[in-house]
Formats: sequence, structure tokens, C-alpha cells
Amino acid sequence: MYFDSHAHLDDQRFDADREEILAALPAQGVGLIMNIGCDLKSSLQSVALAHQYPFVYAAVGSHPDDAAQLDEARLTLYRQLCADERVKAIGEIGLDYHYEDPTRDVQLPAFRKQLELARELGLPVIVHEREAHADGMELVRQFPEVTGVFHCYSGSLEQAKELVKRGWYIGFTGVITFKNARKAVEVAEWLPLDRILIETDCPYMAPEPHRGRRNDSRLVPLVAAKLAEIKGLSLEEMGEITTENARRLFRI
Ligand code: NI
Repeated sequence: MYFDSHAHLDDQRFDADREEILAALPAQGVGLIMNIGCDLKSSLQSVALAHQYPFVYAAVGSHPDDAAQLDEARLTLYRQLCADERVKAIGEIGLDYHYEDPTRDVQLPAFRKQLELARELGLPVIVHEREAHADGMELVRQFPEVTGVFHCYSGSLEQAKELVKRGWYIGFTGVITFKNARKAVEVAEWLPLDRILIETDCPYMAPEPHRGRRNDSRLVPLVAAKLAEIKGLSLEEMGEITTENARRLFRI
């Protein structure tokens, strides 16, 4: 069985065939999904999907793109949503200095406030961190009680070592199947088996041979297959190990 630990199945690109895709997943071995919020609308949609499908769980939060919207009223709404038993994490939250929109002085306090919420509620976090490695790690160090996953990992081996030491998990998308994925492969080679998560990040990041097309959770076994090859395990073993890891992190 596979656990897609990061999906955006609420995305409008699935409006035409969302039900068809979701209905087919358990039969294809994709037995658990974490659907991720990026703003208020997608957080609410994630919770709704999690109530509609027993194998879908929800994360709520504001992505760095949405950081300017994270005021006290919004935090209160997220806090209320987290009381729902289907909500298992805060995310995705973090820093994106590739598209520095809004600017980092807006992104940093939004990330910090959501880490504070995770600490207060005792929930794990799902972190989006792109080209913001130093500031991302600085925040991680300031919240030793909070752990979670750095999703679609793009950091160094050095950074992965520190995250693992601090109790964090590392998430891999279809990017690890790309020809130029040298850095992610190097991290996966080193990473202890009990810290690996697989994810699609659908509709983005489709693995080879689907690169560039719309992704969905049915393709998460291709990510597991690449990691199985790197770790010298069977596909089935990698599916079971990463499922167990995600269940442990999200307490499912
Ligand atoms: Ni995402």
C-alpha cells in the first residue's frame, strides 16, 4: 500500500474527474492521502474531502504565497479547523525565496505564527522551503518541540542530516525520477529508512515518464519505485515503509 503524503486533489484542475480519480485509488494500492491546504479556500476544501473519503486526511495552513493573508482572524479559523478529527497537520507553511512574492519580511512572520500554532496544538507541520535554506533551518531550530516533513525536498545532504537529527522527515516527489535529480538521490541514499515519505504534490511534479503533465495520486508508486531502487528494496517494501512513516508522523 502507498500513502501519498502531499496532494492537492482539491485543485480546480481535478474538477472534471476528481471523483473518478479518488474512487480508483484504493484499488490501485494508494490507500491513504494527505490533502494539503495552501490558503483558507483549499484548507476548507481539504477538510471537506477528508469527510467525503475515509482514506483522505487534511492539513490546513497558508503557503508562503498566501502569507500576507495570515492575520489573527485567519489563525483563529485554522485553530478551529484543527479541532476537526480529520485534520492531522498544519501545512503547507514555509518560505519560498525563488518566487519572493510576498517578500520575505511577510513570509517569515507567517511561517513563525503557524509554527507557534503547531506547537500550541501539538500537531506536525508540512514545510514548503525553496531557496530559503538558512532562514528555514533557523526557524526549525527555534521550535525544537515542532517536527514534521520538509516536502519536495530540495536542500543539501548537510541540511537533511540536521533535520533528521531533530526528528524531522523528508518528502520526495516525482522530481527524484528526473535525470538531473542528483542532489535528491544523494539525500535519499543517505536517509534512514524510517524518515522517508513519498508524495505526488499533484497536480504538479509528475514523475517520469509523465513529466510535464498533470499529476495525480495514482502515480505515487513511481516515486516509491525510484526510492526502492536507490535503497535496494522491493517496491512493496518501500510502499509499506513509507506508509508506516507517514502514519507515525501524522498519527493515523
Ligand atoms: Ni504542495
